[in-house]
Amino acid sequence: PTPAADHVTALLASYQDFPETGILFRDLNPVFADAVAFRTIIDELAERFHGQFDAVAGIEARGFLLAAAVGYAAGASVLAVRKGGKLPGSVLSENYDLEYGSACLELEIGQLPEGSRVLVLDDVLATGGTIAATSRLVRRAGYRLTGVGVVLELTELLGRDRLGTTPLHTIVAL
Ligand code: PRP
Ligand code: MG
Repeated sequence: PTPAADHVTALLASYQDFPETGILFRDLNPVFADAVAFRTIIDELAERFHGQFDAVAGIEARGFLLAAAVGYAAGASVLAVRKGGKLPGSVLSENYDLEYGSACLELEIGQLPEGSRVLVLDDVLATGGTIAATSRLVRRAGYRLTGVGVVLELTELLGRDRLGTTPLHTIVAL
């Protein structure tokens, strides 16, 4: 395990039956709240994809925290992929299914030059619906998806299988 993985494993919190019965909720906020752990995970993500992206797209909500920091570290642009109904102007929408319920993610168009290389970041990869919807948004907006990074991958939910050939970096896989 990497130093970042050791921090995540030590600090990750788990809540049975949240937000619904039968869901084991993984909370990464204690990892982000630890200054050394946070810096270490940001450095690992930025290093893994060094030179491979022009912009970082963070998925609401915790993906924002990662994308802002990696974007700053790399001198890259930052895009916010938001839950449906939050963005003004010309917006692309993608619906997707969650482990519990369904949802919609949106991206404003025209923020980057066509063909820009985009790294997508989120806290957790579970069923992969969130990342798959975001991948569709990035491509529909005219950008190239050059990588996906997550702090935690829940391998039994097989989200990785939905990413096709896009390089995926996971700090910890459970
Ligand atoms: C959680 C998590 C990921 C997503 C992963 O977000 O933060 O974004 O689920 O699930 P998937 O791989 O099965 O799509 P959630 O939708 O709970 O919303 P939040 O980030 O706003 O808390
Ligand atoms: Mg999320």
